[in-house]
Amino acid sequence: MPIENAGFLKARGIIERSAVALTLADLDAPDAPLILANARFERLTGYPLAEVQGKNCRFLQRADVPANAAARAEIRRAIEAREELQVVLKNHRHDGSSFDNLLFLNPVRLDGRDYMLGSQFELAELSRAMARAPAHAVALSDDLARIAEKADRIQMSHRRHLADTAAFLVSRWAG
Ligand code: FNR
Repeated sequence: MPIENAGFLKARGIIERSAVALTLADLDAPDAPLILANARFERLTGYPLAEVQGKNCRFLQRADVPANAAARAEIRRAIEAREELQVVLKNHRHDGSSFDNLLFLNPVRLDGRDYMLGSQFELAELSRAMARAPAHAVALSDDLARIAEKADRIQMSHRRHLADTAAFLVSRWAG
């Protein structure tokens, strides 16, 4: 269990108040269980925190989605190396409906413990995704900067770069 002192409490407050979907996984526990998920995550996926706490976030995937294989390999590598990553995954909501998820992962070390912050953005209609994904990246950058104030370490690219990466991934997703 995480020790609830300054870094963790600061991150939890920011995650709870965030305008974007956020999750926090404990990388120092076996299989990186989720310990936090905010209201925006619940609104997007239909899963409340109580239902996801202690689970690895792969429950959003269905076993039979081969399209996820490359993304999952990239995620495993990023977790192992404690590196940031942006990647698109096919996911399913609580009600079974599917959505394409632009996932942002950023490693953060709080109070001597390693975590990964994950932010989920739904890719649906192209024009909307084009308009909103960079803004999502900017809002996430602002949250990361605030978490960084009390973090031992955080890996985050410059907000402009993150916004450009989000726009690039949306256009690649659109084909
Ligand atoms: C994830 N993962 C993840 N996967 C997914 O399909 N949808 C998601 O929203 C998320 N969110 C997420 C947040 C955080 C903080 C982490 C650390 C990870 C990825 C998932 O948990 C897992 O790491 C990948 O599926 C790769 O591992 P496996 O399943 O190939 O062992």
